[in-house]
Amino acid sequence: MIKLAPSMLSADFSQLANQVQMVEAAGVEYLHIDVMDGHFVPNISFGASVMKSIKQHTNLVMDVHLMIENPDLYIEDFVNAGADIITVHVEACRHLHRTIQKIKSYGIKAGVSLNPATPLVMIDEVLDYLDMVLIMSVNPGFGGQSFIETSIDKIARLKSMIDMAELNIDIQVDGGIKLSNVKKVVDAGANIIVAGSAIFGADDIPEAVRKFRKAVSV
Ligand code: DX5
Ligand code: ZN
Repeated sequence: MIKLAPSMLSADFSQLANQVQMVEAAGVEYLHIDVMDGHFVPNISFGASVMKSIKQHTNLVMDVHLMIENPDLYIEDFVNAGADIITVHVEACRHLHRTIQKIKSYGIKAGVSLNPATPLVMIDEVLDYLDMVLIMSVNPGFGGQSFIETSIDKIARLKSMIDMAELNIDIQVDGGIKLSNVKKVVDAGANIIVAGSAIFGADDIPEAVRKFRKAVSV
């Protein structure tokens, strides 16, 4: 089944608990938590303490996307804040294998993300250890950017890499996903869909979730 992961980055931060409960009631599976440090990406969002607060108000799976340098230093904080999945960027990890082992040592799922310009070969040697691969379909840092079309082919190539290795790894796609392109992202092989502005930016948030569900179910 396809899982929907609205990105909290596009929520109204003054109404966080309400908005998260709204997407939960509408039936999404994950809450995507975009953590930005102003170094790895040119924007600053929020950290583990904000996530910990929101965790008290929801039962959604906490899907943490760390767009930060030195992620190893902060993994424990996000585990303590209630992370169920932690994804790090291959471009930010000098010892990626060690970082993945560290995430998994807490009994949670580990994901690795690739920027649009980063080739799939960068995760060849760690594929066996991963629960999820996150393909960025925009350059990370901001919500509301346009989907990079070449991501479709990259998703399809990742899907065949995973199938050939007979592994069970989720494929998450993040950036510029709208009702108009979500179907082709799913058809290419993605099974976890991140959407920020298209869900939290919608006038009617529950309706946006319902439309996404329908679009990925046909
Ligand atoms: C980008 C973030 C995304 C972003 C998605 O750096 O990782 O999760 O919030 O937002 P939209 O769906 O608006 O592109
Ligand atoms: Zn993200």
